[in-house]
Amino acid sequence: MNIEQIRSDFPILDQELYGKPLVYLDNAATTQKPQCVIDAVRSYYEKDNSNIHRGVHTLSERATAAYEASRETIRSFFNAKSTKEVIFTRGATESINLIASSWGRANITKGDEILITHMEHHSNIVPWQMLCEHTGAVLKVVPMNEAGELDMNAFTSLLSERTKLFGVVHMSNALGTINPIETMIKQAHAVGAVVLVDGAQAAAHMAVDVQALDVDFYVTSAHKMYGPTGVGVLIAKEVLLEAMPPYQGGGDMILMVTFEKTQYNDLPHKFEAGTPNIAGVIGFGEAIKYIQSIGLDKIAVREKVLLDYATSQAELFEGLRQIGTARDKACVLSFVLKGVHPHDLGTILDREAVAIRAGHHCAMPVMQFYKVPATARASFSIYNTEAEVDALFAALSKARDMFA
Ligand code: ALA
Repeated sequence: MNIEQIRSDFPILDQELYGKPLVYLDNAATTQKPQCVIDAVRSYYEKDNSNIHRGVHTLSERATAAYEASRETIRSFFNAKSTKEVIFTRGATESINLIASSWGRANITKGDEILITHMEHHSNIVPWQMLCEHTGAVLKVVPMNEAGELDMNAFTSLLSERTKLFGVVHMSNALGTINPIETMIKQAHAVGAVVLVDGAQAAAHMAVDVQALDVDFYVTSAHKMYGPTGVGVLIAKEVLLEAMPPYQGGGDMILMVTFEKTQYNDLPHKFEAGTPNIAGVIGFGEAIKYIQSIGLDKIAVREKVLLDYATSQAELFEGLRQIGTARDKACVLSFVLKGVHPHDLGTILDREAVAIRAGHHCAMPVMQFYKVPATARASFSIYNTEAEVDALFAALSKARDMFA
C-alpha cells in the first residue's frame, strides 16, 4: 500500500494548523473525503443537477441513472440480493429509527423483548427505549467485561422466545471492539428474533456480506466511509421490507393517491419519501468505488498494523489507561490520562495540530461502565501514518508535563 499516494487523494490532509502539519485522528467521528468523491458531488451539481424519478428531460434522466447506479454499487459492495433491499436514508441513525418506527410498531407488543448490548451508540438505544415506552415492550441489555467484550454466556441466557429483535453494534465507536456478529445472528435466529447490526463504524474497515451473515437489517453512514455527510443506507431482507409499513409519507413513495386511499410504491422507493440527498448518494457510490479500488482486505491489514503500533506505545505511556482492550478490535484507541480531563487533552492536542475526539462518544452507558466522564479517542484510517501516531504521543507527553 502506498500511503503517500493515498494521502494525496485527500486534499484536506495537506494543511498546517498552528504552524504544524495536521494530524487527523478523528476518523470514527467522520472520515475525510477523497478528491474523487468531491469531484463526483461537484460534477453532479455542475452538470446534472435535477430531481430524480420524475422528469422526462435529459438532466433528470442522468440524475436518476447516477442515483440508481450508486444503489447498485452499494448493493454489490454489501452483497445484498437485490437493489430492492437497499434503502437510502440520512445515515445509520435514521436507518435505525426507520426500523424502530416501521418494523417496530408493526411487530412489537406489550411483553415482547428487545435485546441490545451495553456498548451500543445512543442511536441504537434511544429508538428502542421510545418503542418500548410506546408499546410496553421490555428493553434488555447484554453486559460486557472490563476489556469491552460482550458476555456471550449472558447473551445466550438473555435470548428467549420473547426476544423479538436483537440489535448489536458491529464495531464499537467508543471501544473499537469487533463483536462476533456471525455467531450472535445464528443464536438470535434460533429463538426467532430478527437481527439488526449497526455497521456505522465497521463498514469502512472490514468486508460485510449481508447474505453470508444472513443479517436481517444492516445499517451504515456514508460519511464514515469517505463519503458525504447526511446520507446512509438501510440494507434489509426484502420479505421484511415488503411487510413493513412506510416510515414517512410524501412524494416518490406512492403509486397512486386519492383522499380515500394511497397505494404505496414498490421497494425500495416505498421507504424514500421526498427528494433525497441525490448528490450525497452519488458521492456515496463514488466513496464505495474508492474503497474497492484499494481493497478492504488491504485496508484491514494496514489499519491493524497502525492500531498495534499505537497500542504498543499506549501500553508504555505512564498514566494512560486504555478504555477498550478487546482481543478483536479495530482502529480505535480510547483512553484517559491520569490528572488530565479528556476535554483539556483534546484542546491541548489541537494546539499541536492533532485532532482527536474527547467526550462520551454518544455512548454514555459505556462511560458509566468504566466510571469515567469521558475518554479521549484517537481513531485511525488508511491515510494515517506511524509518524502521526508518534505526533499523537509527543503531544500527549506535552499535555502530561503541563499537568504534572
Ligand atoms: N458516532 C460518531 C463518533 O463516534 C459521531 O464520533
